[in-house]
Amino acid sequence: MDLQLTGTTALITGAASGIGRATAHALAAEGVRVALLDRDAVALAETARGCDDAVVRVVDVTDETQVALAVSTSVEELGGVDAVVCCAGISGPVGSTIEQISLHDWNAVFAVNVTGAFLVLAQVLPALRASPSASVVLLASDSAFVSSPGMAPYCASKAALVQLGRSLSVDLAGTDVRVNTVAPSIVDTPMSRGDLGEHAFVSPAFEVQTPEDVASHVLYLVSPRSRAINGTTILSDFGYSARSGFPA
Ligand SMILES: NC(=O)c1ccc[n+]([C@@H]2O[C@H](COP(=O)([O-])OP(=O)(O)OC[C@H]3O[C@@H](n4cnc5c(N)ncnc54)[C@H](O)[C@@H]3O)[C@@H](O)[C@H]2O)c1
Repeated sequence: MDLQLTGTTALITGAASGIGRATAHALAAEGVRVALLDRDAVALAETARGCDDAVVRVVDVTDETQVALAVSTSVEELGGVDAVVCCAGISGPVGSTIEQISLHDWNAVFAVNVTGAFLVLAQVLPALRASPSASVVLLASDSAFVSSPGMAPYCASKAALVQLGRSLSVDLAGTDVRVNTVAPSIVDTPMSRGDLGEHAFVSPAFEVQTPEDVASHVLYLVSPRSRAINGTTILSDFGYSARSGFPA
C-alpha cells in the first residue's frame, strides 16, 4: 500500500531512542522530511544519520521557551508540517506505591508525558492547520487501560494523554487535522529494558513488540489512508486486554 506520504513533513519528539527513532526512520524511508526533537543530543545525531536531510533540535519538551523555539524554527526549516508524533516519555517510579512516591517524581512524569505533549501541540497547531491533511499521533501505552503494580504516575499520565488526544480531536473537528493515540504493550526499547532489567528480555515470559512494529501503526495513522480514523486509540497488546477474568 502506498501510504501517500512522499514529500510530506513530520516533527517527532523523543526521536533519539526507541519508538521515536524507529518512527523517524520509517517516516524518512517513506520520503517524509523529518524534524527530530529530543533532549539527548548525541543519540539524536545518531537518529539523524538514518534520515535524509533531517532537521535536528535538542530540546527539553517540559520547557515552554525551548519548545517554542525548537518547534517554530523546525517548522520554518521544513517549510510547514503535516504530522506530529509525540514519543518523548519517561517511566518515572517503578515498583512504588503512591505513599512512597514524592510529589517531585509524580510531577516529573506528568511534565514529560502530558505537559510536554501539550506544549508541543499548542505551539505546532497553527502550522498543522495550514496543512491540507494533518495528523497528530500521541504515544500513550496500554498502561492507559490496564495497570501494572507500582507504576501509578506512568499509568495515570498515559490515561491523561489518551484523553488529551480525544479532546484535541473534538476541538479540531471540521478541520483537516486528525488526532489519534497508539497504546502499545511492552516494546523492546531502552525504557522497558531499564524498567524490567535486561534479564527479562532473554527469554521473555511475555509477548514483546519491536519499535518498528509500533512505527508501522504510527505511519498508518499519519497517512491519509487512515483519514476516517480520528479521536481514537490503536491498542496494540496482542489481545491481552480483551480477555475476561472469567475462567472459561
Ligand atoms: N517501551 C515500551 O514498552 C513502551 C510501551 C508503551 C508506550 N511507550 C511509550 O512510547 C514512548 C517512547 O518510549 P520508548 O520506549 O521509545 O522510550 P526511550 O526511553 O527509548 O525513548 C524516549 C525518548 O524520550 C526522550 N525524552 C525523555 N524526556 C524528555 C524531555 N523532557 N524532553 C525531550 N526528550 C525527552 C528521551 O531522551 C528518549 O530519547 C514513551 O512515551 C513511552 O511511554 C513505551
